Amino acid sequence: MSNEFLVAPSILSADFSCLQKEIQSVEADGADWIHVDVMDGHFVPNLTIGPPVVRSLRPVTQVPLDVHLMIEFPERYIKDFAQAGSDYLTVHVEACKDPVACLEEIKKYKVKAGITLRPSTSLEAIKPVLSIVDLVLVMTVEPGFGGQAFMKDQVPKIEELDEIRKKQGFSYLIEVDGGVNDKTACFCKKADVLVSGSYIFQHTSYKEAILSLKKQKIVG
Ligand code: DX5
Ligand code: ZN
Repeated sequence: MSNEFLVAPSILSADFSCLQKEIQSVEADGADWIHVDVMDGHFVPNLTIGPPVVRSLRPVTQVPLDVHLMIEFPERYIKDFAQAGSDYLTVHVEACKDPVACLEEIKKYKVKAGITLRPSTSLEAIKPVLSIVDLVLVMTVEPGFGGQAFMKDQVPKIEELDEIRKKQGFSYLIEVDGGVNDKTACFCKKADVLVSGSYIFQHTSYKEAILSLKKQKIVG
């Protein structure tokens, strides 16, 4: 286990009029992945971007594109997002008719497969797929918007996922998304990847913000 978190800035809080510049800035300032929030106005009330934007962003950065699908019928769009250049594709268990089929479909395109769940969904819902996923994303806000407060009551999920992977010898990464900042990252020590949107993009220095998150893995 690394002694630093990987940090995935969420472009939801970036300046969309200059996304290329924003992504290249966070990459130069230490971002490990770029987190791309896809919302359809149905699974969540907000509406964001689709495969063409992922396709346009793919050539402007070296780091993995971590695509979080907050959409209904994700199985209909996996091909498009995979072929657009996603490196990780994460689907909500609540949105998949058949989560195993959905995850297998993602892997068919040689894309890393992730599963996630709303804060109100029990970990039990994703246990059947833990043996086949590359990534488990723990939501620490209700999906839909950036800038919400970290839900500390979700931290036990992170810890249980770490216990399960140790016990069962699973190799998925644990990622946390929502309200992550320099005050809340310390609750996520058992995770590997931290998504952070408003904290990084509203900071005067992206570099300081990213570093302040990375080092929380060992602080205290
Ligand atoms: C929320 C998204 C998050 C969001 C995080 O639905 O999944 O990725 O951008 O934003 P912050 O870090 O501001 O909570
Ligand atoms: Zn997200």
